[in-house]
Amino acid sequence: MIHQARGSGPVPLSATTTCPDPRGVTRRLRREWGDVAWVELEPGVGAWLVMGYYELLTVTRQEKLFSSDARNWRLFQEGVVAPDSGLGPMMFWRPNVAGADGAEHRRLRRPIDDGVRRIDQRRMRRTVEALCRQLIDGFTEKGRADLVGDYAAVVAMLALADMFGLGTGQGHELLAALRAMFGSAGDAQAGNRRFEEILGGVLEARRQAPADDLTSHLLAHADLRDDAEVLQSMAAMISAAQEATTTWISQTFRLILTDPRFAGRLRGGRLGVDDALDEVLWRDPPMTNMPARYAMRDTELGGRRIARGDALILGLSAANDDPRVHGGATEIELGNRAHLAWSAGPHVCPAPVPARLITRTAVETALHHLHDVRLSVDPAELAPHPSPWTRCPASLPVRFRAAGDRP
Ligand code: HEM
Repeated sequence: MIHQARGSGPVPLSATTTCPDPRGVTRRLRREWGDVAWVELEPGVGAWLVMGYYELLTVTRQEKLFSSDARNWRLFQEGVVAPDSGLGPMMFWRPNVAGADGAEHRRLRRPIDDGVRRIDQRRMRRTVEALCRQLIDGFTEKGRADLVGDYAAVVAMLALADMFGLGTGQGHELLAALRAMFGSAGDAQAGNRRFEEILGGVLEARRQAPADDLTSHLLAHADLRDDAEVLQSMAAMISAAQEATTTWISQTFRLILTDPRFAGRLRGGRLGVDDALDEVLWRDPPMTNMPARYAMRDTELGGRRIARGDALILGLSAANDDPRVHGGATEIELGNRAHLAWSAGPHVCPAPVPARLITRTAVETALHHLHDVRLSVDPAELAPHPSPWTRCPASLPVRFRAAGDRP
C-alpha cells in the first residue's frame, strides 16, 4: 500500500489547523494526492484525510463500509497507538452515540434528537442573553477582555450547563474539568473523573426531582437502558458541543473584527452577524477535521486504495473548499447551507439550531454592549489554540468602550 507522496513524509494533520495558511496546505495536499490524502496524526500514526465533498458524503453515509466504532482501527488493535496517546479523548471508542453504528446508533441517537427538538428556543435565547450580559458586566469596567477565554468558552459552557439543568457554579467546574480532559496532560484522568462526577450529581438530583431540562428528558426516555447510558449521552453532547460552539463564536468575532466588509456593522456595515456565521461555516468550520471512520474492508475512495481498518478523518473544511462545489467567491456562501460544517449521514450534528442560537446570541450581545470593540493586537499575531481538529484562536484580546461611556 502506498501511503506516502513522492519524496516527502506525510503532512501532519495539525498543519491543516495550525499553519497561518491552512487552505494552502489542503490545496497542496489535493494537488499531490487528489481528494483523499495520507496524513500523520502523531509520529508513526497515519490516516486518510477525506477532502473531497462527494467522497466525504460517501464516507459519512455508508456506515456498513465506514464504521464509527474506533475498535475497528487497525493501528489501535495492533498497539501502534498507545492507550495513553493524546489522540485518545477525540478518537478512542466510548460507549456512546458517536461510537455506534446502525440500529445501536439510532437507539442512542433518538433520545438526543427528541431532546434537542424539545428545547424552548425563546427561553434559551433569554437565558443565554442574560448570562452573556453577566459575563460582560464582569469585565466592562476594564475596557479590555479576551473574547475567547473570558467570553466564548464560558458562554458555550454555561449555555450547555443550563440545557442540562446545571447551575452557573457547576458550569464553571465542568469547563475546568473538560479543559483538563482535553489538555491531554497529567490531570486528564482526574478531569474525566470530575466531569463524570458533576454529571452524575445532576442525574441523581433529577431522578429525585425531574425538571424541564435535557437531563430529566434523557432519564425518562425509553430508549436509554440505565443511568450509565444517560450519563454517556450527556457527556457525548457536552463534549461534542463545547469546543465546536466556542470555536464558532470565536471565529465569528475574528471575522467581524478583521474583515472590512463587517467593520462598523452597528453603524450600517454591509454584512450582518448571520452572514458572518454562514461564512465561518463555509471557510473555517468550527470542526476543521472530525474523527473518524474506519474501513470495514479493503476498498477504494477518490482513487486511493483504502485497507481494512484504516482510519479516515473527515476533512470538513477542505471538503467545503472542493473546487467541484466552491468556485472561491464568498458570494456563493451567503445564505447557502450546502457546506459540510455539520458533517452528513446518520452522525450529522443533531444540534445546528441550538448551536446557532447560542452563537448568534453570544456575538450579538457582545457587539451590542461593547462599543467600538477592536482587536488590541495585529490580526497576524492571532495564533490558533494547538489542536489537529479545530482552529480556534487561542485568544482574541480586544479593547472597547462600555455602553454609556462617552466616545
Ligand atoms: C448545542 C450545541 C451542540 C450540541 C448539543 C452538539 C451535539 C453533537 C452530538 C451529540 C454529536 C454526535 C452525533 C452522533 O454521533 O450521532 C455531534 C456531532 C457533530 N457535531 Fe455537534 N453539537 C453542537 C454544536 C456543534 C457545532 C457548533 C458544530 C460546528 C458547526 C458541530 C459540529 C458537529 C460535527 C461536525 C459532528 C460530527 C458528525 C460526524 O461524526 O459525522 N456541533 N454534535
